Amino acid sequence: MGGITVSPVEDYVYNMLPPRDEVLAEMEAEAAQKKIPIVGPAVGRIFYQLATMIQAKTVFEMGSAIGYSTIWWARAIADGGRVIYTDGDPKNAEKARGFFQRAGVANRISLKTGDALELLSEEKQQFDIVFNDVDKDDYPRVLRLAAPRVRKGGLFVTDNVLWSGRVADANAVDSRTKAIQEFNRALYASPDFYTTILPIRDGVAVALKK
Ligand SMILES: C[S@@+](CC[C@H](N)C(=O)[O-])C[C@H]1O[C@@H](n2cnc3c(N)ncnc32)[C@H](O)[C@@H]1O
Repeated sequence: MGGITVSPVEDYVYNMLPPRDEVLAEMEAEAAQKKIPIVGPAVGRIFYQLATMIQAKTVFEMGSAIGYSTIWWARAIADGGRVIYTDGDPKNAEKARGFFQRAGVANRISLKTGDALELLSEEKQQFDIVFNDVDKDDYPRVLRLAAPRVRKGGLFVTDNVLWSGRVADANAVDSRTKAIQEFNRALYASPDFYTTILPIRDGVAVALKK
Protein backbone atom coordinates (compact mmCIF):
# COMPACT_ATOMS: atom_id res chain seq x y z
CA MET A 1 0.00 0.00 0.00
CA GLY A 2 2.99 2.36 0.31
CA GLY A 3 1.86 3.58 3.73
CA ILE A 4 3.92 5.86 5.93
CA THR A 5 2.46 4.94 9.31
CA VAL A 6 3.89 1.94 11.18
CA SER A 7 2.70 -1.39 9.75
CA PRO A 8 0.46 -2.52 12.65
CA VAL A 9 -1.43 0.79 12.55
CA GLU A 10 -1.66 0.65 8.77
CA ASP A 11 -3.01 -2.91 9.01
CA TYR A 12 -5.48 -1.87 11.71
CA VAL A 13 -6.88 0.93 9.54
CA TYR A 14 -7.15 -1.23 6.42
CA ASN A 15 -8.56 -4.29 8.17
CA MET A 16 -11.43 -2.20 9.50
CA LEU A 17 -12.58 -0.99 6.10
CA PRO A 18 -15.91 -2.38 4.89
CA PRO A 19 -15.59 -4.65 1.85
CA ARG A 20 -15.78 -3.02 -1.55
CA ASP A 21 -18.13 -4.09 -4.36
CA GLU A 22 -16.99 -6.60 -6.97
CA VAL A 23 -15.65 -4.02 -9.46
CA LEU A 24 -13.52 -2.04 -6.97
CA ALA A 25 -12.29 -5.29 -5.40
CA GLU A 26 -11.24 -6.58 -8.81
CA MET A 27 -9.45 -3.29 -9.57
CA GLU A 28 -7.61 -3.44 -6.23
CA ALA A 29 -6.49 -7.01 -6.99
CA GLU A 30 -5.34 -6.07 -10.49
CA ALA A 31 -3.50 -2.98 -9.20
CA ALA A 32 -1.70 -5.08 -6.59
CA GLN A 33 -0.77 -7.74 -9.13
CA LYS A 34 0.40 -5.31 -11.83
CA LYS A 35 1.84 -2.74 -9.43
CA ILE A 36 -0.49 0.04 -10.59
CA PRO A 37 -0.26 2.80 -7.93
CA ILE A 38 -3.94 3.44 -7.12
CA VAL A 39 -5.04 5.44 -4.07
CA GLY A 40 -6.67 2.40 -2.46
CA PRO A 41 -9.81 2.12 -0.33
CA ALA A 42 -8.84 4.22 2.72
CA VAL A 43 -8.12 7.23 0.52
CA GLY A 44 -11.04 6.42 -1.78
CA ARG A 45 -13.35 6.78 1.20
CA ILE A 46 -11.87 10.21 1.99
CA PHE A 47 -12.62 11.27 -1.59
CA TYR A 48 -16.19 10.04 -1.21
CA GLN A 49 -16.60 12.01 2.02
CA LEU A 50 -15.05 15.19 0.64
CA ALA A 51 -17.17 15.22 -2.51
CA THR A 52 -20.31 14.48 -0.53
CA MET A 53 -19.56 17.15 2.10
CA ILE A 54 -19.29 19.95 -0.46
CA GLN A 55 -22.03 18.45 -2.70
CA ALA A 56 -19.60 18.42 -5.58
CA LYS A 57 -20.98 18.17 -9.09
CA THR A 58 -17.79 18.65 -11.11
CA VAL A 59 -14.46 16.88 -10.59
CA PHE A 60 -11.39 17.18 -12.81
CA GLU A 61 -9.04 14.25 -12.18
CA MET A 62 -5.42 14.57 -13.34
CA GLY A 63 -3.84 11.11 -13.69
CA SER A 64 -6.57 8.45 -13.56
CA ALA A 65 -4.86 5.19 -14.68
CA ILE A 66 -7.46 2.37 -14.70
CA GLY A 67 -10.07 4.65 -13.12
CA TYR A 68 -10.13 3.40 -9.52
CA SER A 69 -10.12 6.84 -7.87
CA THR A 70 -12.48 8.08 -10.63
CA ILE A 71 -15.14 5.61 -9.48
CA TRP A 72 -14.96 6.86 -5.87
CA TRP A 73 -15.49 10.45 -7.09
CA ALA A 74 -18.24 9.41 -9.53
CA ARG A 75 -20.22 7.60 -6.86
CA ALA A 76 -20.10 10.63 -4.57
CA ILE A 77 -21.04 13.44 -6.89
CA ALA A 78 -24.52 14.91 -6.89
CA ASP A 79 -27.09 13.95 -9.56
CA GLY A 80 -26.29 15.45 -12.95
CA GLY A 81 -22.63 15.81 -12.00
CA ARG A 82 -19.58 14.92 -14.09
CA VAL A 83 -16.09 13.61 -13.43
CA ILE A 84 -13.45 14.20 -16.08
CA TYR A 85 -11.01 11.26 -16.28
CA THR A 86 -7.58 12.06 -17.79
CA ASP A 87 -4.61 9.85 -18.52
CA GLY A 88 -1.69 9.96 -20.91
CA ASP A 89 -2.06 6.27 -21.83
CA PRO A 90 -5.02 5.37 -24.09
CA LYS A 91 -4.75 1.70 -23.00
CA ASN A 92 -5.50 2.78 -19.44
CA ALA A 93 -8.53 4.71 -20.68
CA GLU A 94 -9.85 1.69 -22.58
CA LYS A 95 -9.50 -0.47 -19.51
CA ALA A 96 -11.12 2.21 -17.33
CA ARG A 97 -14.09 2.50 -19.72
CA GLY A 98 -14.98 -1.17 -19.11
CA PHE A 99 -14.75 -0.75 -15.35
CA PHE A 100 -16.95 2.38 -15.45
CA GLN A 101 -19.66 0.51 -17.34
CA ARG A 102 -19.58 -2.39 -14.93
CA ALA A 103 -19.59 -0.05 -11.92
CA GLY A 104 -22.69 1.73 -13.25
CA VAL A 105 -21.05 5.17 -13.40
CA ALA A 106 -20.18 5.48 -17.11
CA ASN A 107 -22.82 8.18 -17.66
CA ARG A 108 -21.14 10.44 -15.06
CA ILE A 109 -17.62 10.24 -16.47
CA SER A 110 -15.98 11.87 -19.53
CA LEU A 111 -12.76 10.15 -20.58
CA LYS A 112 -9.97 12.24 -22.06
CA THR A 113 -6.51 11.06 -23.05
CA GLY A 114 -3.38 13.21 -23.30
CA ASP A 115 -1.47 15.49 -20.96
CA ALA A 116 -3.73 16.32 -18.01
CA LEU A 117 -2.36 19.86 -17.75
CA GLU A 118 -3.15 20.55 -21.41
CA LEU A 119 -6.57 18.96 -21.08
CA LEU A 120 -7.30 21.15 -18.06
CA SER A 121 -6.30 24.26 -19.98
CA GLU A 122 -8.89 23.33 -22.63
CA GLU A 123 -11.67 23.45 -20.01
CA LYS A 124 -13.12 26.91 -19.54
CA GLN A 125 -15.06 26.31 -16.33
CA GLN A 126 -14.01 26.13 -12.69
CA PHE A 127 -14.46 22.82 -10.85
CA ASP A 128 -15.76 21.90 -7.42
CA ILE A 129 -12.78 19.54 -7.05
CA VAL A 130 -9.48 19.19 -8.90
CA PHE A 131 -7.61 15.99 -8.00
CA ASN A 132 -3.89 15.83 -8.81
CA ASP A 133 -2.17 12.44 -9.22
CA VAL A 134 0.16 13.01 -12.21
CA ASP A 135 3.94 12.56 -12.45
CA LYS A 136 5.47 14.06 -9.34
CA ASP A 137 8.00 16.25 -11.19
CA ASP A 138 5.00 18.20 -12.50
CA TYR A 139 3.46 18.99 -9.10
CA PRO A 140 4.72 22.61 -8.84
CA ARG A 141 3.39 23.30 -12.35
CA VAL A 142 0.08 21.62 -11.49
CA LEU A 143 -0.35 23.96 -8.51
CA ARG A 144 0.18 27.03 -10.69
CA LEU A 145 -2.22 25.84 -13.38
CA ALA A 146 -4.87 24.06 -11.34
CA ALA A 147 -5.28 26.54 -8.48
CA PRO A 148 -7.28 29.06 -10.52
CA ARG A 149 -9.50 26.26 -11.81
CA VAL A 150 -10.95 25.42 -8.39
CA ARG A 151 -14.03 27.40 -7.44
CA LYS A 152 -14.26 29.33 -4.18
CA GLY A 153 -15.26 26.81 -1.49
CA GLY A 154 -14.01 23.97 -3.70
CA LEU A 155 -11.15 21.56 -3.06
CA PHE A 156 -7.74 20.96 -4.59
CA VAL A 157 -6.75 17.42 -3.58
CA THR A 158 -3.32 15.85 -4.19
CA ASP A 159 -2.02 12.32 -3.61
CA ASN A 160 1.49 11.17 -2.58
CA VAL A 161 2.47 14.40 -0.83
CA LEU A 162 4.50 12.50 1.80
CA TRP A 163 6.19 10.28 -0.82
CA SER A 164 6.89 7.36 1.53
CA GLY A 165 8.32 9.85 4.04
CA ARG A 166 11.09 11.03 1.71
CA VAL A 167 9.76 14.61 1.87
CA ALA A 168 11.11 14.81 5.44
CA ASP A 169 14.69 14.69 4.11
CA ALA A 170 15.81 18.32 3.93
CA ASN A 171 18.84 17.25 1.87
CA ALA A 172 16.90 15.24 -0.71
CA VAL A 173 18.41 15.35 -4.19
CA ASP A 174 15.88 13.23 -6.09
CA SER A 175 13.92 15.49 -8.47
CA ARG A 176 10.50 14.04 -7.61
CA THR A 177 11.03 14.43 -3.86
CA LYS A 178 12.21 18.01 -4.37
CA ALA A 179 9.22 18.76 -6.59
CA ILE A 180 6.79 17.47 -3.94
CA GLN A 181 8.62 19.44 -1.21
CA GLU A 182 8.33 22.60 -3.31
CA PHE A 183 4.66 21.85 -4.00
CA ASN A 184 3.83 21.33 -0.30
CA ARG A 185 5.63 24.54 0.72
CA ALA A 186 3.88 26.57 -1.97
CA LEU A 187 0.48 25.08 -1.23
CA TYR A 188 0.68 25.85 2.52
CA ALA A 189 2.01 29.35 1.74
CA SER A 190 -0.69 30.09 -0.82
CA PRO A 191 -3.12 32.80 0.32
CA ASP A 192 -5.71 31.17 -1.94
CA PHE A 193 -5.97 27.89 0.00
CA TYR A 194 -6.42 26.56 3.51
CA THR A 195 -4.40 23.31 3.45
CA THR A 196 -4.04 20.14 5.53
CA ILE A 197 -1.94 17.07 4.79
CA LEU A 198 -3.70 13.88 5.88
CA PRO A 199 -1.00 11.27 6.70
CA ILE A 200 -3.02 8.37 5.30
CA ARG A 201 -1.36 5.86 2.95
CA ASP A 202 1.19 8.06 1.10
CA GLY A 203 -0.18 11.43 2.27
CA VAL A 204 -3.14 13.34 0.82
CA ALA A 205 -3.16 17.16 0.69
CA VAL A 206 -6.62 18.66 1.00
CA ALA A 207 -6.71 22.36 0.17
CA LEU A 208 -9.87 24.43 0.53
CA LYS A 209 -10.12 27.33 -1.91
CA LYS A 210 -10.77 30.59 -0.03
C1 LIG B 1 -0.69 7.15 -9.74
S1 LIG B 1 -1.46 6.74 -11.24
C2 LIG B 1 -3.12 7.27 -11.01
C3 LIG B 1 -3.90 6.41 -10.10
C4 LIG B 1 -5.35 6.84 -9.96
N1 LIG B 1 -5.47 8.23 -9.59
C5 LIG B 1 -6.02 5.99 -8.89
O1 LIG B 1 -5.75 6.24 -7.71
O2 LIG B 1 -6.78 5.09 -9.22
C6 LIG B 1 -0.84 8.02 -12.25
C7 LIG B 1 -1.38 7.98 -13.68
O3 LIG B 1 -1.20 9.28 -14.22
C8 LIG B 1 -0.82 9.19 -15.57
N2 LIG B 1 -0.09 10.44 -15.81
C9 LIG B 1 1.07 10.83 -15.26
N3 LIG B 1 1.37 12.08 -15.67
C10 LIG B 1 0.37 12.46 -16.49
C11 LIG B 1 0.07 13.65 -17.21
N4 LIG B 1 0.89 14.71 -17.17
N5 LIG B 1 -1.06 13.69 -17.92
C12 LIG B 1 -1.90 12.64 -17.97
N6 LIG B 1 -1.70 11.50 -17.31
C13 LIG B 1 -0.58 11.41 -16.58
C14 LIG B 1 -0.04 7.91 -15.69
O4 LIG B 1 -0.20 7.37 -17.00
C15 LIG B 1 -0.66 7.02 -14.62
O5 LIG B 1 -1.62 6.16 -15.19
